[in-house]
Amino acid sequence: MSGIVVVGSANIDQVFSVDRIPSPGETVLSHGVSTALGGKGQNQAVAAARAGAKTCFVGAVGADNFGEMVRAGLTADSIDVTQLRTSHKPTGTALIAVDGTGENTIIVEPGANSEVTVLTSADAAAISAASALVMQLEIPLKTVVEAARVAQAAETLVILNAAPIQELPRVLLDALDVLIVNEHEAADLARDNDVAPELEGLGQRLLALVPTVIVTLGSKGASLHRVGSAEVLVPAHRVTAVDATGAGDTFCGAFAAGVIEGMSADDALRFAVAAASISVENHGAVPSIPLRAAIETRAKESRQQVTD
Ligand code: ATP
Ligand code: RIB
Repeated sequence: MSGIVVVGSANIDQVFSVDRIPSPGETVLSHGVSTALGGKGQNQAVAAARAGAKTCFVGAVGADNFGEMVRAGLTADSIDVTQLRTSHKPTGTALIAVDGTGENTIIVEPGANSEVTVLTSADAAAISAASALVMQLEIPLKTVVEAARVAQAAETLVILNAAPIQELPRVLLDALDVLIVNEHEAADLARDNDVAPELEGLGQRLLALVPTVIVTLGSKGASLHRVGSAEVLVPAHRVTAVDATGAGDTFCGAFAAGVIEGMSADDALRFAVAAASISVENHGAVPSIPLRAAIETRAKESRQQVTD
C-alpha cells in the first residue's frame, strides 16, 4: 500500500462540558456529557483519511459495544481495519473535561490499547509497503520502537507525535524522520535529552535529536524546523475555539497526508494548520475532524488574507 499506516490507540471519549476545569480536590457540575470516537491513533488515522490519504489502522479494541463503534467509525472513513485486533481487555476510554474556552484535561484508561504489544507479520508488511508510518505514545513503547525500526528498514517515512510525552530511547529517536510535539512535550523531551529546555529556539535545538521537528503552538500556529534550513512559522487562523480536543491529532494526520501526496513540508504545514483550525471550532475529537474540501477552502482563505 502506498498510503499511511497509523499504529496507535483508539478510545471512546466521554466528554464533560464544564465552566472551568476542577482543581485537585474540587467538584464541579457539568452542563452535559457526550460520547465520541477518539484516541490519538484513531484521530490521526481519521484526519489522514479525511484529508485524502489511503489509510490503514493498526491497533486494538475490546470485544464490546465501544469496540464495534470504533470499527464502524474507521470503516465509515474508508480506513483499512484488517489489522485491527480484538482484545480480551475493554476498549480504551478517555474522560475529558472541556471548559468554556475550549481548553481540556484528559484522563485515559488504555484498556485494549495496552495489548498492542507485538506487530504481526501482516502489520510489518503493511508498514514496509506504506509511504508513511504515523504513531503516538498511547500504546506500549516497545511496539512503537519495533514499528519505527520496520519502517526505517523499508525507507517508509516515520512520523512520531510524542504524546503523551515519555522518555524516548535513542533507538527510537534515531529511526524518526519527523517529530511533532506541542510546547510542553518539546520542553520535556529537551530536558530528558540534555537539550536546553527554554522555549526560545527550542524547535531548532531539538534538531539535535531528529532531522525534522514540528512544534505546535496552540492558537499561535506551528513551527517547522529542518536541519540546514531556517525555521518556518505558520500562524493559526483566527477562529472561535469551542473544543481543542484532537486539534493536535488533526494537525498530525493532515500533515502526513499532505507530505505523502507530494506537498512541500511548508505547504503540508499550512495544510495541517488549516485543518486543525477547523477542528477547534467544533466539538469532539473524531466528529470535529474536517474533510479535505473544507481544509482547502480554509487554506485558500488564509492565502487571500495574506495577499489582501
Ligand atoms: P490537543 O492535545 O488539544 O489535541 P496539542 O496540545 O497537541 O493539542 P496544540 O498546539 O494545542 O496541540 O494544537 C495543535 C494545532 O491546532 C496548532 O498547531 C494550531 O494549528 C491548531 N490550534 C490549536 N488551538 C487553536 C486555536 N485556538 N485557534 C486556531 N488554531 C488552533
Ligand atoms: O488527543 C486527543 C485524544 O487524547 C482524545 O481523543 C483522547 O481519547 C486521548 O487519547
